[in-house]
Amino acid sequence: MSPPLSAKKIKSNLNTTRIGSEILVFDAVSSTNDLAKQYLEQNVAGGLVLIAESQTRGRGRMGRTWMSLSGIGLYLSVILKPDIQLRLLPQLTLLAGLATTLAINEFIRKKAQLKWPNDILLNGKKCCGILCETHVSKNGEAGVIIGIGINANHSIPDFPDDLTSSATSLMIETGNVIDRQALVHALICNLDQQYDAYLGNGEQTVIEKWLENSDMVGKKITVTLGKSAIHGTALGLDSQGRLLMRSEKGEELTFDSGEVSLHSSAEGARPARGKLLTRKNVFLGW
Ligand code: BTN
Repeated sequence: MSPPLSAKKIKSNLNTTRIGSEILVFDAVSSTNDLAKQYLEQNVAGGLVLIAESQTRGRGRMGRTWMSLSGIGLYLSVILKPDIQLRLLPQLTLLAGLATTLAINEFIRKKAQLKWPNDILLNGKKCCGILCETHVSKNGEAGVIIGIGINANHSIPDFPDDLTSSATSLMIETGNVIDRQALVHALICNLDQQYDAYLGNGEQTVIEKWLENSDMVGKKITVTLGKSAIHGTALGLDSQGRLLMRSEKGEELTFDSGEVSLHSSAEGARPARGKLLTRKNVFLGW
């Protein structure tokens, strides 16, 4: 276990423009994303980072639970108040995934890979998840919450049996205890840099860099949304960060939400079944 996190230590040498203007560390909270919503009700400024040593109700995408064991992972939420339309939230999700990947890569040799929309994989196993949400406070002010969970110092027995084949941690992959203080510092710096670049240059650079840090393109994938599963080949992302796929029937499809499984090339994609998803599908949130 690495030492407890200290806001004071994280702030020292932090030279960021926007993110980390205030940093608060809590021992145990229900969910840092839920806490962020409470802070948004109090009209906090963007840039606030809320970190917890553990969460009793850590939440993942699609209503899943995010296991949040005390002192070994990183669980944090960043509040942003960007002057952009909330429909651009997917771009911020990609930005968060990119920045987190770059931060993780400062601690490991074999590069982490992004899996659309926002999982981070080491050796094909998930080491980080990101849950981006929006919240409109009672006085009508909107904010974006970027919730990030990183498996830093988990050992294999820390994962429940059903996750051992799909989850990993930075410590498992490197054989070294990860300095969580340094990791959260790197994370805030990378988020700040990417956010700054996004506000200055727009989403194109984020999408290009996201693709550079993902080995999905050209891979056989299955996209699942509810009971529908579509098999095909990942083609890339469009200018809005949506996933482009060529289905086994040869159709070009665009997804704005869904769960992606990557297949090894030997396995290939299974025959298509289920109904096709199109741009008309409701965006369910990443
Ligand atoms: C996923 O399903 O992959 C997303 C997981 C996101 C987990 C983080 S931990 C910090 C923040 N608080 C939460 O309750 N969830 C996010």
